[in-house]
Amino acid sequence: MTSSGIADRDVWIRAPAKLNLFLEVRGKRGDGYHELETVMVGVSLYDSLRFRAEPGNRLDVRGSTSRRIADSLQRIPFGPENLAWRALDFLRREVGLSDRLGGTLDLFKVIPDQAGLGGGSSDAAAALLAARAGWRLNLDDRRLALIGAQIGSDVPYFLTGGAAICRGRGEQVAPIRVSRPLWFVIAKPPRGLRTAHVYAALNAPRECEASDGMERALALGRVAEIGRRLHNRLQPPAEELVPEIRHAARAFAALDCYGHQMTGSGSAYFGLFGARAPALRAAARLRGRLPDWFITSCRSLALRSAPAWMSPLRVAS
Ligand code: C5P
Repeated sequence: MTSSGIADRDVWIRAPAKLNLFLEVRGKRGDGYHELETVMVGVSLYDSLRFRAEPGNRLDVRGSTSRRIADSLQRIPFGPENLAWRALDFLRREVGLSDRLGGTLDLFKVIPDQAGLGGGSSDAAAALLAARAGWRLNLDDRRLALIGAQIGSDVPYFLTGGAAICRGRGEQVAPIRVSRPLWFVIAKPPRGLRTAHVYAALNAPRECEASDGMERALALGRVAEIGRRLHNRLQPPAEELVPEIRHAARAFAALDCYGHQMTGSGSAYFGLFGARAPALRAAARLRGRLPDWFITSCRSLALRSAPAWMSPLRVAS
């Protein structure tokens, strides 16, 4: 599975955030998870990771954050409870080399946590890709996705990337086409949300919406229609838990955007724009209106082909 001489091999990789443009819950399953149909798109808001393969079996995950999300340092565990740590440990066990593969993962976090932006899952997916390169494992993408699914429902999506419809508990990923770049402004209140709490507060919908209209609008690049078709079944229970999400809805309604909603299980909210300039202007206005919130503009990464997604930026031996 691996060749010798892995010591001091550094791999750099970026881990993007995602936004859910459509999220429908199709029922609760016997295993406690919910059956989903969700359209996700990767965006240009990134954590950065450096993985250094080392001999021995010691595994360290160290973390730092950008100034804007400095408060998240108290919440994010950087030891064995970290999703990326668990991903690396799971990977080396899967290849039967847990006593011979070690390393240090440095995580520089920019994506807010407890936001529905997928930061933790994206870090775990990036860690798997970096370790596969750093440890020189001969492991195909399909097996890596199976490992990713054991770590978290969103991890297989991040291994595929771009835009995709995800089903099952989120781990069944079908890439879709987006024919033009989309611009977004993300606004996250200081309070975050735990995914499990939001699902626990959800009332099962009587009627489910289907994602095919959104898929078509994305393929045709019809921004106004994409905006009209935004849907997130988790937003009502999330608003009950964090009412500030309603402030975000009002603030975005006053802006000139094509549509707006919460992403994933929240608490981050986003607005959709057709170009960079109006997105930048909207972000500046929101910063004035929602001080203390995390506010950023970004663009979709959907035009990238899947193989370019999250490929290690640099491997130095
Ligand atoms: O898979 P992951 O660990 O990211 O999920 C976190 C929690 O979110 C789960 O423990 C579960 O409570 C909830 N969840 C769910 N249905 C899904 C995905 C997540 O109920 N499809």
